[in-house]
Amino acid sequence: MSAVIHESDLNSEAHHHGPPTGFKRWLYSTNHKDIGTMYLIFALVMLFLGGAMAMLIRAELYMPGLQIVNPDLYNNLVTDHALIMVFGLVMPAAAGMANWMIPMMIGAPDMALPRMNNMSFWLLPAAAILLVSSLLVQFIPGTGTPVNTGWTLYPPLSVQVGLGMDLLIFSVHLLGISSIMASINIVTTILNMRAPGMTMMKMPLFVWAWFFTGLLLIIIMPVLAGGVTMLLFDRHFGTSFFDAAGGGDPVLFQHLFWFFGHPEVYVLLLPSIGVLGMVIPTFSRKPLFGYKPLVYFMGFLFALGLIVWAHHQYTIGMSLGATTYFMIGTILISIPVGLMIFNFIFTMWRGSMTFETPMLFAIAIILMFSFAGVTGVMLAVVPADLQYHDTYFVVAHFHYALIPGAVFGLYAGVFYWLPKWTGHMYDEKLGKIFFWWTTLSFNLTFFPQHFSGLAGMPRRIIDYNIQYIEFNQISSIGAFLFGLSHLLFLYIIIKTVKGGEKAPAKPWDGAQIGTPGLEWTLPSPPPFHSFTTPPEVK
Ligand code: CU
Repeated sequence: MSAVIHESDLNSEAHHHGPPTGFKRWLYSTNHKDIGTMYLIFALVMLFLGGAMAMLIRAELYMPGLQIVNPDLYNNLVTDHALIMVFGLVMPAAAGMANWMIPMMIGAPDMALPRMNNMSFWLLPAAAILLVSSLLVQFIPGTGTPVNTGWTLYPPLSVQVGLGMDLLIFSVHLLGISSIMASINIVTTILNMRAPGMTMMKMPLFVWAWFFTGLLLIIIMPVLAGGVTMLLFDRHFGTSFFDAAGGGDPVLFQHLFWFFGHPEVYVLLLPSIGVLGMVIPTFSRKPLFGYKPLVYFMGFLFALGLIVWAHHQYTIGMSLGATTYFMIGTILISIPVGLMIFNFIFTMWRGSMTFETPMLFAIAIILMFSFAGVTGVMLAVVPADLQYHDTYFVVAHFHYALIPGAVFGLYAGVFYWLPKWTGHMYDEKLGKIFFWWTTLSFNLTFFPQHFSGLAGMPRRIIDYNIQYIEFNQISSIGAFLFGLSHLLFLYIIIKTVKGGEKAPAKPWDGAQIGTPGLEWTLPSPPPFHSFTTPPEVK
């Protein structure tokens, strides 16, 4: 057959030998786009579940005194809100984008390991059921204390709490298996499935971002899995890894947890940095400024991220040498991150910019994430952190890092790629309303928490002194508005999926001349044949 691929070949259903239909299409799917779609839908469901928990938390904190939940349930909600947002929303949404876009960006017909891809996804609903069960089981009498540890699961408390903790540990096991398999798949795909001519240094930045993300996950997830398994052994099998009375050390768990936990922040951030690397050149109509340095900065971030974990535990009483090392290492991270931000700004510099929804999010991310970087340097400084530790200042810091840095990056990606995924344009006016609504209400929610934190309000406590009332009421009103804005997000997505204006091949009028329909794969124009090509087309 001729090597020329006709559009009709790509779209013709007649060539297929009865692929599974109905629910089997999804349950048995080995197709990267279908699996990507399932990841994205799962993330959307988890967004509303984790968001509902946040609404309960903010409603409880609207005023001092106990109103809505009891302290144990409150602590359990804090725990599950974090775990759901990290493992249920951000990682699956980023994996959905990876599944959809990476094969197309590097010219591969599908992921390298399609059947494992199916299993990676389908472990997630099972893990989510276990996670929700760990919350619900407290309403059954005789199951012990609810999971009131926070997402860090520190012993000795996590050894003492009831059945919910076992369900949570098994949930973390499944989440770990799922993300290790997904990461092996993504890294393998990037290393082995690139089309001829698509060298590593030509890959779009989003692919590089996921390459480092995948490597990070392969390194850190087994450590978390080991940590919670040791916890399980301490709980049921008479070991005392974390029990000082038996010769163990509870601080060991903190090291295991944060060896995972700090790089995990970059697992959440890097895919969104990759999205910025696609969105900003497109809407600036200029190639990415400093593509190779950006790749190297991500490499630095990957390497430094693995060796700074104990900045989360300055208060355990480490040696002066250790605290100094972790402080200097942590502050060094601001160098590659700051340089990345300058590269994105220089990409926009004198560009022919337009401000559609993805670009608005990209610019807002640069501003707000830089702010999180500044509070991050404050927290890295040991004597200062001894004051800020376990206050709302930390809560404000990491929500500024993770909501703009990770979640808004995913929104930018969703609006950028929705035309590609659905074939329809989203409603730009509604997209812009969503952007302003969500950005303003986000700041209203979390900006005051810097002040209540600096004034000494402790985190993870259901009640507070009356001097913090104003800050908390502003925060709660902001949170309700922020939560509400996501109903508009849902409406925009449903409206786009159901119909609307047909998306042209180049909806953003990107600047990549001679690459029709390929502007989604900016900034490095891949060879023409990097369309997804069904294997039967030869
Ligand atoms: Cu950290």
